[in-house]
Amino acid sequence: MTDVSEARSGVLSRIFAAEADTAPGDSHEQVVLCHDRDTGLKAVIAIHSTALGPALGGTRFHAYASEEDAVQDALNLARGMSYKNALAGLDLGGGKAVIIGDPTKIKTEALLRAYGRFVQSLNGRYVTACDVGTYVADMDVIARETEFVTGRSPENGGAGDSSVLTAFGVFQAMRASAQHRWGTPSLKGRRVGVAGVGKVGHYLVEHLVEDGAQVVVTDVSEAAVNRVRAAHPSVEVAADTPALIRADLDVYAPCALGGALNDETVPVLTAQIVCGAANNQLAHPGVEKDLADRGILYTPDYLANAGGVIQVADEIHGFNFERAKAKAAKIFDTTLEIFARAEADGVPPAVAADRLAEKRMAEVGRLRTILLPGSRRG
Ligand SMILES: NC(=O)c1ccc[n+]([C@@H]2O[C@H](COP(=O)([O-])OP(=O)(O)OC[C@H]3O[C@@H](n4cnc5c(N)ncnc54)[C@H](O)[C@@H]3O)[C@@H](O)[C@H]2O)c1
Repeated sequence: MTDVSEARSGVLSRIFAAEADTAPGDSHEQVVLCHDRDTGLKAVIAIHSTALGPALGGTRFHAYASEEDAVQDALNLARGMSYKNALAGLDLGGGKAVIIGDPTKIKTEALLRAYGRFVQSLNGRYVTACDVGTYVADMDVIARETEFVTGRSPENGGAGDSSVLTAFGVFQAMRASAQHRWGTPSLKGRRVGVAGVGKVGHYLVEHLVEDGAQVVVTDVSEAAVNRVRAAHPSVEVAADTPALIRADLDVYAPCALGGALNDETVPVLTAQIVCGAANNQLAHPGVEKDLADRGILYTPDYLANAGGVIQVADEIHGFNFERAKAKAAKIFDTTLEIFARAEADGVPPAVAADRLAEKRMAEVGRLRTILLPGSRRG
C-alpha cells in the first residue's frame, strides 16, 4: 500500500502539511468543495484555523483559470484571514471561500442561495462576508439561507460597506507609522501617494486631506480619479503607479491590487513609509527584508487593513458602528507594538506581525483544552 504522506502532492500538501516539515500555519483544517449543477455553483470553502473561533472571511467570486487555481487562492486567502483576525484581537479564526466563474455572467439568486445553504451546512464553523466580486446585496441574498453571514445591508441588520472602517484603520496604521518614524502621528505637510482610489482609497484620501497631508493619487479608472478630484481639488494626480512611486513622497499607500511591492518597485520607491489597504502587498518572501534594507518602514498589510473585518465581525452580535470604530482605532496601538517588537527581535515588521499572530493563536487557542463541561465550546 502506498503511504499517503509520500503520495501527497500539489494542493493536498497545502492542506495536510505536517508542522514538522513546514512553517506554522501552512496546513488547513478543512476544505469543502460545493457543487450544484443546476445553478452552476462551484465553490471552495477553506477553513484554515478555528483556534480562536469560527473562521471568518469573505467570498471571492472570480473566473479562475483553473479549478486548481481556485483552491490555491482559497487556501492562501484563508490563511491570511487567520493571521489578520488574530492580530486584530478578534475571537475569530480564518477562512475564505471562492465561487468559480464570472460573476457578471453566472451570478443569480438561486446560485447565491445554493451557496448559502452550503455555508449553513458548516453550522457556524465558517462565517462569510463580501470580497472581490461579491457585494452587500449578495450577502442579503445569501442570508436568506444561512445565519452565518456578515456584510449585509444596514436595513437588514448588517454592517454595510466595510471600506469605511478599512480606510479608517489604514489611516490609524499610517499615523502610528509616522509616530514611529518622525516622532509625531500627524501627516500634516507630508506628501502621501495613494495608488488606487476605489472604495477604500477614496475614503483614505478624505482622512489624509483632513489631517493636512499633501495627497497625490493615481488610478487606472479615470472616473475614480475624477471623483476624488471633485471632492478634494487640492489633490494632485500622477500619470500611473510607476510615476507615483518615483515621485517625491513621504508615504506610499498601495490601495489597488496585490503584489505592489516587488523587485521592480522597491528599489525606486522614494517614500520612507509604506502603509496601504491592498492585500498581499509583498510580491514574494524576502521583499520585506529588501524594504528594511533600504530603510523603508513597511506596515504589514493585514495589520493596516483589518478595519474592514473588524467592521463586519461586529455584526455577529448585532452591529454597532461606534463600537466597531473604537476597535479599529486600536490598530494604531498594535502598529506601534509591532514596530517595537520588530526592533527588539531584529526582524522586519512583517515577521514580527506573523509571530505575534501565531503567538495569540497558540496561547488563546490552547485554552480550549480546559474542559468546560456541557459547553458548546468544549
Ligand atoms: N474594501 C475593503 O473593506 C477591504 C478590506 C481589506 C482589504 N482591502 C483591499 O484593499 C484594496 C482596495 O480595495 P477596494 O475595496 O477599494 O477595491 P476597489 O476595486 O473599489 O478599488 C481598487 C481601485 O484600484 C484601481 N486600480 C486597479 N488596478 C490599478 C493599477 N494598476 N494602478 C492604479 N489603480 C488601479 C481600480 O480602478 C479601483 O479604483 C484591495 O487590494 C482589497 O483587497 C479592501
